Amino acid sequence: MIATAGSTVPKFPSDFLWGFATASFQIEGAVNEDGRGKSIWDDFSRIPGKTLDGRNGDVATDSYNRWKEDLALLREYGIKAYRFSIAWSRIIPVGGRNDPINPKGIEFYSKFIDGLLEAGITPFVTLYHWDLPQGLHDRYGGWLNKEEIVQDYAHYARVCFQAFGDRVKHWLTLNEPWCTAILGYGRGVFAPGRSSDRNRSPEGDSSTEPWIVGHSLILAHAHAVKIYREEFKPTQGGQIGITLNGDWAIPFDDSPENVEAAQHALDVAIGWFADPVYLGFYPEHMKKMLGERMPEFTAEEWTVVKGSSDFYGMNTYTTNLIKGGGDDEFQGKAEYTFTRADGTQLGTQAHCAWLQDYPEGFRALLNYLWNRYKLPIFVTENGFAVKDENSMPLEEALQDHDRVEYFRGATQALMSAVMEDGVDVRSYFPWSFLDNFEWADGYSTRFGVTYVDYETQKRYPKESAKFLVKVQTSPCVKS
Ligand code: NOJ
Repeated sequence: MIATAGSTVPKFPSDFLWGFATASFQIEGAVNEDGRGKSIWDDFSRIPGKTLDGRNGDVATDSYNRWKEDLALLREYGIKAYRFSIAWSRIIPVGGRNDPINPKGIEFYSKFIDGLLEAGITPFVTLYHWDLPQGLHDRYGGWLNKEEIVQDYAHYARVCFQAFGDRVKHWLTLNEPWCTAILGYGRGVFAPGRSSDRNRSPEGDSSTEPWIVGHSLILAHAHAVKIYREEFKPTQGGQIGITLNGDWAIPFDDSPENVEAAQHALDVAIGWFADPVYLGFYPEHMKKMLGERMPEFTAEEWTVVKGSSDFYGMNTYTTNLIKGGGDDEFQGKAEYTFTRADGTQLGTQAHCAWLQDYPEGFRALLNYLWNRYKLPIFVTENGFAVKDENSMPLEEALQDHDRVEYFRGATQALMSAVMEDGVDVRSYFPWSFLDNFEWADGYSTRFGVTYVDYETQKRYPKESAKFLVKVQTSPCVKS
Protein backbone atom coordinates (compact mmCIF):
# COMPACT_ATOMS: atom_id res chain seq x y z
CA MET A 1 0.00 0.00 0.00
CA ILE A 2 1.35 3.40 -0.89
CA ALA A 3 1.90 5.93 1.86
CA THR A 4 0.24 9.25 1.12
CA ALA A 5 2.52 12.23 0.59
CA GLY A 6 3.57 13.83 3.82
CA SER A 7 2.40 10.92 5.92
CA THR A 8 4.36 8.01 7.26
CA VAL A 9 1.29 5.95 8.05
CA PRO A 10 0.02 3.96 5.06
CA LYS A 11 -3.75 3.85 4.71
CA PHE A 12 -5.76 0.67 5.03
CA PRO A 13 -8.60 0.71 2.45
CA SER A 14 -11.59 2.40 4.01
CA ASP A 15 -14.07 0.30 2.00
CA PHE A 16 -12.54 -2.98 3.18
CA LEU A 17 -15.32 -5.45 4.02
CA TRP A 18 -14.97 -6.74 7.57
CA GLY A 19 -17.60 -9.32 8.30
CA PHE A 20 -18.57 -12.74 9.54
CA ALA A 21 -19.60 -15.80 7.55
CA THR A 22 -22.12 -18.66 7.75
CA ALA A 23 -23.86 -21.13 5.42
CA SER A 24 -27.50 -22.16 5.04
CA PHE A 25 -27.41 -25.80 6.08
CA GLN A 26 -25.15 -25.08 9.02
CA ILE A 27 -27.44 -22.52 10.65
CA GLU A 28 -30.95 -22.44 9.24
CA GLY A 29 -32.64 -25.59 10.60
CA ALA A 30 -36.38 -25.44 9.76
CA VAL A 31 -35.82 -28.12 7.17
CA ASN A 32 -39.50 -28.78 6.65
CA GLU A 33 -40.74 -25.22 6.77
CA ASP A 34 -42.26 -23.07 4.06
CA GLY A 35 -41.90 -25.55 1.24
CA ARG A 36 -38.16 -26.22 1.46
CA GLY A 37 -37.13 -29.35 -0.45
CA LYS A 38 -34.65 -31.84 0.94
CA SER A 39 -30.93 -31.41 0.35
CA ILE A 40 -28.36 -34.20 0.18
CA TRP A 41 -27.22 -33.29 3.69
CA ASP A 42 -30.67 -34.00 5.18
CA ASP A 43 -30.54 -37.68 4.37
CA PHE A 44 -26.80 -38.10 4.68
CA SER A 45 -26.60 -36.68 8.19
CA ARG A 46 -29.37 -39.07 9.28
CA ILE A 47 -27.38 -42.16 8.40
CA PRO A 48 -25.92 -43.57 11.62
CA GLY A 49 -22.21 -42.92 11.88
CA LYS A 50 -22.04 -40.10 9.34
CA THR A 51 -21.78 -37.33 11.92
CA LEU A 52 -19.56 -37.60 14.97
CA ASP A 53 -22.33 -36.95 17.47
CA GLY A 54 -25.11 -38.56 15.42
CA ARG A 55 -26.87 -35.21 15.01
CA ASN A 56 -28.17 -33.47 11.89
CA GLY A 57 -29.21 -30.06 10.57
CA ASP A 58 -32.91 -30.23 11.45
CA VAL A 59 -32.63 -27.41 13.98
CA ALA A 60 -29.01 -26.20 13.77
CA THR A 61 -28.99 -22.64 15.18
CA ASP A 62 -32.61 -22.19 14.08
CA SER A 63 -31.59 -19.12 12.12
CA TYR A 64 -34.45 -19.51 9.65
CA ASN A 65 -36.79 -18.59 12.50
CA ARG A 66 -34.38 -16.41 14.44
CA TRP A 67 -33.09 -14.26 11.61
CA LYS A 68 -34.22 -11.06 13.27
CA GLU A 69 -32.31 -11.95 16.41
CA ASP A 70 -29.22 -12.79 14.33
CA LEU A 71 -29.54 -9.56 12.45
CA ALA A 72 -29.78 -7.63 15.70
CA LEU A 73 -26.55 -9.25 16.87
CA LEU A 74 -24.77 -8.49 13.61
CA ARG A 75 -25.90 -4.92 13.99
CA GLU A 76 -24.69 -4.85 17.58
CA TYR A 77 -21.28 -6.10 16.43
CA GLY A 78 -21.28 -3.23 13.97
CA ILE A 79 -19.69 -5.23 11.17
CA LYS A 80 -19.76 -4.01 7.59
CA ALA A 81 -20.59 -7.20 5.73
CA TYR A 82 -22.15 -10.60 6.21
CA ARG A 83 -21.51 -13.68 4.14
CA PHE A 84 -24.29 -16.27 4.04
CA SER A 85 -25.55 -18.84 1.56
CA ILE A 86 -28.87 -19.44 -0.12
CA ALA A 87 -30.32 -22.94 0.15
CA TRP A 88 -31.05 -24.02 -3.42
CA SER A 89 -33.85 -26.29 -2.19
CA ARG A 90 -35.65 -23.37 -0.55
CA ILE A 91 -35.73 -21.52 -3.88
CA ILE A 92 -36.45 -24.52 -6.13
CA PRO A 93 -37.43 -27.39 -3.82
CA VAL A 94 -36.74 -30.20 -6.30
CA GLY A 95 -33.94 -28.20 -7.88
CA GLY A 96 -34.39 -28.50 -11.68
CA ARG A 97 -34.90 -25.95 -14.40
CA ASN A 98 -38.46 -27.12 -15.04
CA ASP A 99 -39.42 -27.52 -11.40
CA PRO A 100 -41.54 -24.99 -9.53
CA ILE A 101 -40.02 -22.02 -7.75
CA ASN A 102 -40.96 -21.55 -4.11
CA PRO A 103 -42.09 -17.95 -3.44
CA LYS A 104 -41.65 -18.42 0.31
CA GLY A 105 -37.98 -19.19 -0.17
CA ILE A 106 -37.50 -16.05 -2.23
CA GLU A 107 -39.42 -14.04 0.35
CA PHE A 108 -37.26 -15.31 3.21
CA TYR A 109 -33.93 -14.27 1.68
CA SER A 110 -35.44 -11.09 0.33
CA LYS A 111 -36.52 -9.97 3.79
CA PHE A 112 -33.17 -10.92 5.22
CA ILE A 113 -31.27 -8.99 2.54
CA ASP A 114 -33.46 -5.94 3.13
CA GLY A 115 -32.78 -6.22 6.85
CA LEU A 116 -29.04 -6.34 6.28
CA LEU A 117 -29.12 -3.33 4.00
CA GLU A 118 -31.24 -1.35 6.44
CA ALA A 119 -28.62 -2.14 9.07
CA GLY A 120 -25.90 -0.88 6.75
CA ILE A 121 -24.45 -4.39 6.29
CA THR A 122 -23.31 -5.49 2.83
CA PRO A 123 -24.71 -8.93 1.86
CA PHE A 124 -22.09 -11.30 0.43
CA VAL A 125 -24.02 -14.22 -0.99
CA THR A 126 -22.90 -17.77 -1.74
CA LEU A 127 -25.17 -19.58 -4.18
CA TYR A 128 -23.97 -23.06 -3.35
CA HIS A 129 -22.53 -24.17 -0.03
CA TRP A 130 -22.84 -27.95 -0.43
CA ASP A 131 -26.60 -28.43 0.05
CA LEU A 132 -27.56 -29.85 -3.34
CA PRO A 133 -31.29 -30.53 -3.72
CA GLN A 134 -31.78 -34.25 -3.07
CA GLY A 135 -34.21 -34.24 -6.01
CA LEU A 136 -31.36 -33.67 -8.46
CA HIS A 137 -29.18 -36.33 -6.92
CA ASP A 138 -32.06 -38.80 -7.20
CA ARG A 139 -33.08 -37.71 -10.68
CA TYR A 140 -29.74 -37.96 -12.47
CA GLY A 141 -26.85 -38.28 -10.01
CA GLY A 142 -26.39 -34.57 -9.25
CA TRP A 143 -22.84 -33.35 -9.87
CA LEU A 144 -21.95 -36.59 -11.65
CA ASN A 145 -24.12 -35.61 -14.59
CA LYS A 146 -22.44 -32.66 -16.23
CA GLU A 147 -25.04 -32.02 -18.96
CA GLU A 148 -27.95 -31.78 -16.55
CA ILE A 149 -26.40 -30.17 -13.50
CA VAL A 150 -24.77 -27.32 -15.39
CA GLN A 151 -28.12 -26.30 -16.83
CA ASP A 152 -29.98 -26.69 -13.56
CA TYR A 153 -27.40 -24.78 -11.57
CA ALA A 154 -27.31 -22.01 -14.17
CA HIS A 155 -31.09 -21.75 -14.00
CA TYR A 156 -31.05 -21.58 -10.20
CA ALA A 157 -28.35 -18.90 -10.33
CA ARG A 158 -30.42 -16.87 -12.80
CA VAL A 159 -33.46 -17.06 -10.52
CA CYS A 160 -31.33 -15.69 -7.66
CA PHE A 161 -29.82 -12.88 -9.75
CA GLN A 162 -33.35 -11.94 -10.84
CA ALA A 163 -34.77 -12.03 -7.33
CA PHE A 164 -31.92 -10.48 -5.32
CA GLY A 165 -29.46 -8.90 -7.72
CA ASP A 166 -30.98 -5.44 -7.40
CA ARG A 167 -29.64 -5.48 -3.83
CA VAL A 168 -26.84 -8.07 -3.78
CA LYS A 169 -23.61 -6.84 -5.35
CA HIS A 170 -21.24 -9.58 -4.23
CA TRP A 171 -21.86 -13.12 -5.43
CA LEU A 172 -19.99 -16.35 -4.84
CA THR A 173 -20.96 -19.17 -7.18
CA LEU A 174 -19.53 -22.14 -5.28
CA ASN A 175 -17.99 -22.65 -1.89
CA GLU A 176 -14.93 -24.91 -1.76
CA PRO A 177 -15.62 -27.19 -4.73
CA TRP A 178 -12.62 -29.33 -3.69
CA CYS A 179 -14.61 -30.43 -0.62
CA THR A 180 -17.68 -31.30 -2.65
CA ALA A 181 -15.62 -33.42 -5.04
CA ILE A 182 -13.09 -35.09 -2.73
CA LEU A 183 -15.02 -35.35 0.52
CA GLY A 184 -18.40 -36.10 -1.10
CA TYR A 185 -17.33 -38.41 -3.94
CA GLY A 186 -13.80 -39.49 -3.00
CA ARG A 187 -13.38 -40.03 0.71
CA GLY A 188 -17.15 -40.33 1.14
CA VAL A 189 -17.24 -38.44 4.43
CA PHE A 190 -19.52 -35.64 3.19
CA ALA A 191 -22.87 -35.90 1.39
CA PRO A 192 -23.69 -37.69 -0.81
CA GLY A 193 -21.11 -40.05 0.73
CA ARG A 194 -19.88 -41.83 -2.36
CA SER A 195 -16.56 -43.66 -2.16
CA SER A 196 -14.79 -46.80 -3.28
CA ASP A 197 -14.23 -47.57 0.38
CA ARG A 198 -17.04 -50.04 1.05
CA ASN A 199 -16.93 -49.31 4.76
CA ARG A 200 -18.00 -45.80 3.98
CA SER A 201 -20.37 -46.20 1.10
CA PRO A 202 -22.26 -48.91 -0.73
CA GLU A 203 -21.64 -47.16 -4.03
CA GLY A 204 -19.21 -44.88 -5.84
CA ASP A 205 -15.91 -45.08 -7.68
CA SER A 206 -13.45 -42.70 -6.15
CA SER A 207 -10.90 -43.26 -8.88
CA THR A 208 -13.07 -41.35 -11.34
CA GLU A 209 -16.00 -39.60 -9.65
CA PRO A 210 -14.25 -36.75 -7.80
CA TRP A 211 -12.61 -35.59 -11.01
CA ILE A 212 -15.86 -35.76 -12.98
CA VAL A 213 -17.60 -33.83 -10.22
CA GLY A 214 -14.83 -31.22 -10.12
CA HIS A 215 -15.22 -30.76 -13.83
CA SER A 216 -19.00 -30.25 -13.58
CA LEU A 217 -18.50 -27.79 -10.73
CA ILE A 218 -16.09 -25.64 -12.75
CA LEU A 219 -18.45 -25.59 -15.72
CA ALA A 220 -21.50 -24.84 -13.61
CA HIS A 221 -19.67 -21.96 -11.96
CA ALA A 222 -18.48 -20.61 -15.30
CA HIS A 223 -21.95 -20.73 -16.85
CA ALA A 224 -23.50 -18.90 -13.91
CA VAL A 225 -20.84 -16.19 -14.28
CA LYS A 226 -21.51 -15.93 -18.00
CA ILE A 227 -25.20 -15.43 -17.33
CA TYR A 228 -24.50 -12.84 -14.66
CA ARG A 229 -22.10 -10.91 -16.85
CA GLU A 230 -24.32 -10.97 -19.92
CA GLU A 231 -27.77 -10.55 -18.42
CA PHE A 232 -27.39 -8.85 -15.07
CA LYS A 233 -24.08 -7.13 -14.52
CA PRO A 234 -24.76 -4.37 -17.07
CA THR A 235 -27.73 -3.17 -15.02
CA GLN A 236 -26.95 -4.51 -11.55
CA GLY A 237 -23.24 -3.80 -11.59
CA GLY A 238 -22.06 -6.36 -9.03
CA GLN A 239 -19.10 -8.70 -8.84
CA ILE A 240 -19.09 -12.47 -9.06
CA GLY A 241 -16.52 -15.15 -8.38
CA ILE A 242 -15.79 -18.54 -6.93
CA THR A 243 -14.36 -19.24 -3.47
CA LEU A 244 -11.74 -21.95 -3.00
CA ASN A 245 -10.32 -23.67 0.02
CA GLY A 246 -6.55 -23.77 0.16
CA ASP A 247 -3.86 -23.75 2.79
CA TRP A 248 -0.27 -22.67 2.44
CA ALA A 249 2.21 -25.50 1.90
CA ILE A 250 5.74 -25.44 3.29
CA PRO A 251 8.32 -28.04 2.31
CA PHE A 252 9.46 -30.22 5.21
CA ASP A 253 13.02 -29.22 4.32
CA ASP A 254 14.70 -27.74 1.27
CA SER A 255 15.42 -30.99 -0.54
CA PRO A 256 14.26 -30.75 -4.17
CA GLU A 257 11.85 -33.64 -3.61
CA ASN A 258 10.06 -31.91 -0.74
CA VAL A 259 10.05 -28.51 -2.42
CA GLU A 260 8.43 -30.11 -5.45
CA ALA A 261 5.92 -31.95 -3.27
CA ALA A 262 4.85 -28.68 -1.63
CA GLN A 263 4.09 -27.16 -5.04
CA HIS A 264 2.29 -30.37 -5.98
CA ALA A 265 0.14 -29.98 -2.84
CA LEU A 266 -0.82 -26.43 -3.85
CA ASP A 267 -1.59 -27.52 -7.39
CA VAL A 268 -3.88 -30.42 -6.51
CA ALA A 269 -5.75 -28.46 -3.85
CA ILE A 270 -5.90 -24.91 -5.23
CA GLY A 271 -4.64 -25.15 -8.81
CA TRP A 272 -7.17 -27.85 -9.76
CA PHE A 273 -9.87 -25.16 -9.73
CA ALA A 274 -7.96 -21.90 -9.78
CA ASP A 275 -5.72 -22.57 -12.78
CA PRO A 276 -8.60 -23.33 -15.18
CA VAL A 277 -10.74 -20.46 -13.89
CA TYR A 278 -8.02 -17.79 -13.80
CA LEU A 279 -5.37 -19.00 -16.21
CA GLY A 280 -7.19 -21.31 -18.62
CA PHE A 281 -5.39 -24.62 -18.05
CA TYR A 282 -5.23 -27.55 -15.66
CA PRO A 283 -2.00 -27.77 -13.62
CA GLU A 284 0.63 -30.23 -14.85
CA HIS A 285 0.71 -31.92 -11.44
CA MET A 286 -3.00 -32.70 -11.75
CA LYS A 287 -2.58 -34.08 -15.24
CA LYS A 288 0.37 -36.21 -14.16
CA MET A 289 -1.48 -37.52 -11.11
CA LEU A 290 -4.61 -38.43 -13.05
CA GLY A 291 -3.43 -39.30 -16.52
CA GLU A 292 -6.40 -40.29 -18.66
CA ARG A 293 -8.80 -39.82 -15.79
CA MET A 294 -8.41 -36.04 -16.03
CA PRO A 295 -11.51 -34.77 -17.82
CA GLU A 296 -10.80 -32.26 -20.61
CA PHE A 297 -12.79 -29.18 -21.56
CA THR A 298 -13.71 -28.61 -25.19
CA ALA A 299 -12.36 -25.47 -26.84
CA GLU A 300 -15.80 -23.92 -26.48
CA GLU A 301 -15.97 -24.78 -22.80
CA TRP A 302 -12.54 -23.24 -22.19
CA THR A 303 -13.78 -19.93 -23.52
CA VAL A 304 -16.46 -19.94 -20.83
CA VAL A 305 -14.17 -21.21 -18.07
CA LYS A 306 -11.08 -19.04 -18.57
CA GLY A 307 -11.41 -15.71 -16.81
CA SER A 308 -14.69 -16.67 -15.14
CA SER A 309 -14.11 -14.93 -11.81
CA ASP A 310 -13.92 -11.23 -11.04
CA PHE A 311 -11.77 -11.84 -7.95
CA TYR A 312 -10.02 -14.57 -6.00
CA GLY A 313 -12.27 -15.94 -3.21
CA MET A 314 -10.07 -17.40 -0.49
CA ASN A 315 -10.95 -19.73 2.39
CA THR A 316 -7.99 -20.71 4.53
CA TYR A 317 -7.45 -22.21 7.96
CA THR A 318 -3.99 -23.58 8.42
CA THR A 319 -0.55 -24.20 6.94
CA ASN A 320 0.65 -27.63 5.92
CA LEU A 321 4.15 -29.04 6.08
CA ILE A 322 4.71 -31.26 3.08
CA LYS A 323 7.03 -34.17 2.37
CA GLY A 324 7.32 -36.07 -0.88
CA GLY A 325 6.91 -39.81 -1.16
CA GLY A 326 3.20 -40.00 -0.38
CA ASP A 327 0.78 -42.05 -2.46
CA ASP A 328 -2.61 -40.80 -1.33
CA GLU A 329 -5.36 -41.34 -3.87
CA PHE A 330 -6.31 -37.66 -3.88
CA GLN A 331 -3.14 -35.89 -2.86
CA GLY A 332 -0.64 -37.91 -4.84
CA LYS A 333 2.93 -37.61 -3.65
CA ALA A 334 2.27 -34.85 -1.10
CA GLU A 335 2.43 -36.26 2.39
CA TYR A 336 1.26 -34.05 5.25
CA THR A 337 3.19 -33.78 8.46
CA PHE A 338 3.13 -31.41 11.43
CA THR A 339 6.75 -31.47 12.44
CA ARG A 340 9.64 -29.94 10.53
CA ALA A 341 12.91 -31.63 9.67
CA ASP A 342 14.60 -29.97 12.66
CA GLY A 343 11.93 -31.36 15.00
CA THR A 344 10.18 -28.04 15.66
CA GLN A 345 6.51 -27.57 15.01
CA LEU A 346 4.74 -25.13 12.82
CA GLY A 347 2.65 -22.72 14.87
CA THR A 348 2.08 -22.97 18.57
CA GLN A 349 -0.54 -25.70 18.56
CA ALA A 350 0.48 -27.85 15.71
CA HIS A 351 -0.83 -31.15 17.04
CA CYS A 352 -3.93 -30.93 14.92
CA ALA A 353 -4.59 -29.26 11.59
CA TRP A 354 -7.66 -27.50 12.90
CA LEU A 355 -5.62 -25.89 15.61
CA GLN A 356 -2.56 -24.97 13.66
CA ASP A 357 -1.92 -21.27 13.94
CA TYR A 358 0.90 -20.03 11.79
CA PRO A 359 0.08 -16.50 10.58
CA GLU A 360 3.19 -16.36 8.40
CA GLY A 361 1.54 -19.06 6.28
CA PHE A 362 -1.55 -16.90 5.77
CA ARG A 363 0.60 -13.97 4.63
CA ALA A 364 2.62 -16.19 2.32
CA LEU A 365 -0.52 -17.65 0.77
CA LEU A 366 -1.98 -14.18 0.18
CA ASN A 367 1.23 -13.23 -1.62
CA TYR A 368 1.29 -16.45 -3.63
CA LEU A 369 -2.31 -16.05 -4.84
CA TRP A 370 -1.85 -12.38 -5.65
CA ASN A 371 1.30 -13.03 -7.66
CA ARG A 372 -0.08 -16.05 -9.46
CA TYR A 373 -3.65 -14.98 -10.26
CA LYS A 374 -3.29 -11.20 -10.18
CA LEU A 375 -6.80 -10.38 -9.05
CA PRO A 376 -8.12 -8.73 -5.88
CA ILE A 377 -8.55 -11.25 -3.09
CA PHE A 378 -11.65 -11.55 -0.95
CA VAL A 379 -10.89 -13.60 2.15
CA THR A 380 -14.25 -15.29 2.57
CA GLU A 381 -13.33 -17.66 5.43
CA ASN A 382 -10.68 -17.99 8.08
CA GLY A 383 -11.21 -19.48 11.52
CA PHE A 384 -10.23 -21.61 14.43
CA ALA A 385 -11.82 -24.40 16.46
CA VAL A 386 -10.76 -24.25 20.09
CA LYS A 387 -9.85 -27.70 21.39
CA ASP A 388 -12.56 -29.19 23.67
CA GLU A 389 -14.62 -25.99 23.61
CA ASN A 390 -17.75 -28.07 23.33
CA SER A 391 -17.24 -29.71 26.70
CA MET A 392 -16.30 -26.52 28.58
CA PRO A 393 -18.63 -24.65 30.88
CA LEU A 394 -20.11 -21.62 29.13
CA GLU A 395 -18.02 -19.06 31.03
CA GLU A 396 -14.81 -20.78 30.04
CA ALA A 397 -15.85 -21.18 26.40
CA LEU A 398 -16.57 -17.46 26.18
CA GLN A 399 -12.96 -16.71 27.12
CA ASP A 400 -11.66 -18.17 23.87
CA HIS A 401 -8.11 -16.98 24.30
CA ASP A 402 -6.61 -19.35 21.70
CA ARG A 403 -9.07 -18.18 19.07
CA VAL A 404 -8.29 -14.54 19.88
CA GLU A 405 -4.59 -15.27 19.42
CA TYR A 406 -5.30 -17.01 16.13
CA PHE A 407 -7.26 -14.00 14.86
CA ARG A 408 -4.66 -11.58 16.19
CA GLY A 409 -2.03 -13.39 14.16
CA ALA A 410 -4.21 -13.68 11.08
CA THR A 411 -5.36 -10.06 11.04
CA GLN A 412 -1.81 -8.83 11.56
CA ALA A 413 -0.63 -11.07 8.73
CA LEU A 414 -3.39 -9.68 6.55
CA MET A 415 -2.44 -6.11 7.43
CA SER A 416 1.21 -6.83 6.60
CA ALA A 417 0.23 -8.41 3.29
CA VAL A 418 -1.80 -5.32 2.39
CA MET A 419 0.36 -2.56 3.80
CA GLU A 420 3.87 -3.96 3.38
CA ASP A 421 3.60 -6.41 0.49
CA GLY A 422 1.00 -4.50 -1.53
CA VAL A 423 -1.43 -7.42 -1.89
CA ASP A 424 -4.89 -6.24 -2.92
CA VAL A 425 -7.17 -7.75 -0.27
CA ARG A 426 -10.77 -6.55 -0.10
CA SER A 427 -12.47 -8.50 2.69
CA TYR A 428 -12.02 -10.63 5.77
CA PHE A 429 -14.84 -12.92 6.88
CA PRO A 430 -13.96 -14.95 9.98
CA TRP A 431 -15.67 -18.31 10.14
CA SER A 432 -18.06 -18.23 11.81
CA PHE A 433 -20.58 -15.71 13.08
CA LEU A 434 -22.17 -18.51 15.15
CA ASP A 435 -21.20 -21.94 16.42
CA ASN A 436 -23.06 -24.24 14.05
CA PHE A 437 -23.46 -27.62 12.40
CA GLU A 438 -19.89 -28.54 11.48
CA TRP A 439 -20.77 -31.14 8.81
CA ALA A 440 -19.31 -34.58 9.64
CA ASP A 441 -18.31 -33.28 13.08
CA GLY A 442 -21.93 -32.49 13.91
CA TYR A 443 -22.06 -30.01 16.77
CA SER A 444 -18.94 -31.31 18.49
CA THR A 445 -16.62 -28.75 16.90
CA ARG A 446 -17.27 -25.07 17.44
CA PHE A 447 -15.91 -22.41 15.11
CA GLY A 448 -18.15 -19.54 16.20
CA VAL A 449 -17.17 -16.15 17.55
CA THR A 450 -20.62 -16.34 19.10
CA TYR A 451 -21.37 -19.23 21.43
CA VAL A 452 -24.68 -20.98 20.80
CA ASP A 453 -26.35 -22.90 23.59
CA TYR A 454 -28.06 -25.55 21.48
CA GLU A 455 -30.65 -26.30 24.21
CA THR A 456 -31.95 -22.76 24.52
CA GLN A 457 -30.62 -21.33 21.23
CA LYS A 458 -29.29 -18.40 23.19
CA ARG A 459 -26.33 -16.60 21.62
CA TYR A 460 -23.37 -15.31 23.68
CA PRO A 461 -20.54 -13.23 22.19
CA LYS A 462 -17.13 -14.78 22.84
CA GLU A 463 -13.99 -12.73 23.46
CA SER A 464 -13.00 -13.35 19.83
CA ALA A 465 -16.10 -11.50 18.60
CA LYS A 466 -15.17 -8.52 20.75
CA PHE A 467 -11.59 -8.69 19.54
CA LEU A 468 -12.58 -8.76 15.86
CA VAL A 469 -15.07 -5.95 16.27
CA LYS A 470 -12.25 -3.86 17.77
CA VAL A 471 -9.86 -4.75 14.95
CA GLN A 472 -12.29 -3.73 12.27
CA THR A 473 -12.90 -0.32 13.78
CA SER A 474 -9.17 0.41 13.96
CA PRO A 475 -7.51 -2.14 11.72
CA CYS A 476 -3.99 -0.76 11.97
CA VAL A 477 -3.82 -0.71 15.73
CA LYS A 478 -2.14 -3.83 17.10
CA SER A 479 -4.79 -4.38 19.78
C1 NOJ B 1 -15.08 -24.58 5.29
C2 NOJ B 1 -16.53 -24.54 4.99
O1 NOJ B 1 -16.84 -23.65 3.95
C3 NOJ B 1 -17.42 -24.34 6.18
O2 NOJ B 1 -18.69 -24.76 5.83
C4 NOJ B 1 -16.85 -25.09 7.36
O3 NOJ B 1 -17.72 -25.08 8.46
C5 NOJ B 1 -15.54 -24.49 7.73
N1 NOJ B 1 -14.63 -24.55 6.61
C6 NOJ B 1 -14.87 -25.11 8.94
O4 NOJ B 1 -14.66 -26.44 8.73
